[in-house]
Amino acid sequence: MTQAQPRVNPSAAPDAVFRSPQIADGVRLWQIAEASKVLDVNSSYSYLLWCRDFDASSIVAEVDGNVVGFVTGFVRPHAPDTLFVWQVAVDDSQRGKGLAAAMLHRLLESLASQSVTHLETTISPDNAASIALFTALARNRGTQITKQNLFDPNDFPDAHEAEELYIIGPSRQPEGNPTS
Ligand SMILES: CC(C)(COP(=O)(O)OP(=O)(O)OC[C@H]1O[C@@H](n2cnc3c(N)ncnc32)[C@H](O)[C@@H]1OP(=O)(O)O)[C@@H](O)C(=O)NCCC(=O)NCCS
Repeated sequence: MTQAQPRVNPSAAPDAVFRSPQIADGVRLWQIAEASKVLDVNSSYSYLLWCRDFDASSIVAEVDGNVVGFVTGFVRPHAPDTLFVWQVAVDDSQRGKGLAAAMLHRLLESLASQSVTHLETTISPDNAASIALFTALARNRGTQITKQNLFDPNDFPDAHEAEELYIIGPSRQPEGNPTS
């Protein structure tokens, strides 16, 4: 299948540096998640562990030497062509500059050589910014985005909104890897 080339804006976030997270970044990821007031804030331990064991499927953005955004994800064990994005957050001071989109594009590009062609994430229905982010990601990569129910409020042991599953893909394959 011929896919459109992703339209990554090369001038987006020109002062940012993107890299894989390290254990020392775990504190900052936890702080950004907590400050977002939107994300589920997981234990500080989980962010450190994520930086250690899921660094290849996660990414951070630095501006002036400070981590200002992150994407945490994993390649699904039962669907190795799919990156599941667990959390995305950008520090309030750096939003609207294309950082989140740039991190997601870079992560998908880095995983393309492992035949990752799809991205999944869950979004609660009232998170308009997140829905806009992933809708724009699909559009700019020239691929589709679909939505289905995943977790109902009754599935949770505490008060929690529904989480709807968004599936983006297929992404184009790098040349010489025509598996889609
Ligand atoms: C969602 C979030 C990560 C976006 O980060 P960002 O760096 O500002 O996003 P970008 O600048 O890369 O924007 C990417 C796209 O999303 C859209 N978007 C981003 N924030 C938006 C908002 N608040 N309302 C509407 N659209 C928004 C942008 O317009 C852009 O779309 P476009 O290409 O059509 O113009 C950031 O607002 C955030 O950290 N929110 C709190 C945590 C959260 O909700 N995370 C997502 C759930 S895991």
